This record gives sequence, structure tokens and C-alpha cells, in this order.
Amino acid sequence: MIDQAKATIRFMTLEDLDAVVEVERNSFSTPWDPGIFRNEITSNQFAHYLVYELNDEIIGYCGLWIVMDEAQITNIAIHSKHRGYKHGERLLSYVIAFVKQMGVLKLSLEVRVSNNVAQSLYRKMGFQEGGVRKNYYADNGEDALVMWVNVNEGI
Ligand SMILES: CC(C)(COP(=O)(O)OP(=O)(O)OC[C@H]1O[C@@H](n2cnc3c(N)ncnc32)[C@H](O)[C@@H]1OP(=O)(O)O)[C@@H](O)C(=O)NCCC(=O)NCCS
Repeated sequence: MIDQAKATIRFMTLEDLDAVVEVERNSFSTPWDPGIFRNEITSNQFAHYLVYELNDEIIGYCGLWIVMDEAQITNIAIHSKHRGYKHGERLLSYVIAFVKQMGVLKLSLEVRVSNNVAQSLYRKMGFQEGGVRKNYYADNGEDALVMWVNVNEGI
């Protein structure tokens, strides 16, 4: 995997779940339970979950599903204490390179229409808008913006 000075990106293991759930709870209004992560990394053959470590501390993670030549990001987050330092950008760049290596052509995700920060990151990485899923988020009925990138043309 990569090891740039103090930052490391590697596959998530069961031992990482407490730290990952802390990032999750810090980042989302409807966080996933530990059981969902456990199921993803032990039982979902399509799932790939990566953690981002800074000085051996997990400060972020990204999950994705790869099916044939398409991949979908399920979640990406950096703990709020560490945002704004290019960790999210580095993690997403790594994910794009990883899926490319896996033969993926198209990478997509859903993002809240109000989440301008994440949308800005995705646009910066070459994602474009693919449509809107109405009332996608159960907590407040917010719409999701679908964004996607051709991984051979993204940054
Ligand atoms: C989205 C997220 C992962 C970005 O991580 P980060 O490490 O803070 O982002 P970076 O420092 O790598 O910034 C990369 C780009 O993101 C965008 N960005 C980051 N912070 C921003 C801010 N406060 N306002 C606007 N754009 C911002 C910019 O495009 C930035 O590029 P720039 O610095 O050249 O302007 C992080 O904000 C996060 O975890 N948010 C909560 C969880 C979430 O919303 N996940 C996405 C679900 S779809």
C-alpha cells in the first residue's frame, strides 16, 4: 500500500472497527453500526474497505464495492480534527488508482445535495454530476446527487 512520511493507507481489518466507528460517528448524522462494517469486510465479496492512518492513528476511511468494471464508493470520511489537510484528497486519489488497477472503468457515489465540501472534493478529482435521487436520505428526506468519474480520465 502507500506509506508517505506519516500517512499510510491499508485495508481495514476487524481490529480497526472501534477507530473506524469513531470516525463514522464524528462524520455522519446517521452513522453505520459496527456490525455493518463487520459484515462488509467479512461477508461481502464485492466490498473493499481502506483505512487512512496518520502516525499510526486511524483518522479516516473509505469503502467501496466493485462489481465487474464499475465501482461505487459507499462512504468516505476524515475525522473532523484532521480535515483540511489534503488527507481526503489523498485517500480518494488512492481509491481511484486502486479501482483502476482492478480494471474498473467507472466510479460513482451518492452525496447529499447540501454537502458542498464533499462535492467540491469530487469535482476536483474529475467527478461529474449524473443525476439526482429524490428523498434518498431517510433522516431528513434530502436528495442525493449522483456523481461519477471515468477513472481513466479522472485526476
Ligand atoms: C469530504 C471530506 C472527506 C474531505 O476531507 P478533507 O481531508 O477535509 O479534504 P481535503 O483537505 O483533502 O480537501 C480536498 C478538497 O476538498 C474540498 N474541500 C475540503 N474542505 C473544504 C471546505 N471547508 N470548503 C469547501 N471545500 C472543501 C476542496 O475542493 C479541497 O481542495 P482545495 O483544498 O484545493 O480547495 C471531509 O470533509 C469529511 O470527512 N466530511 C464528512 C463526511 C462526508 O461528508 N463524507 C462524504 C460523504 S458523500
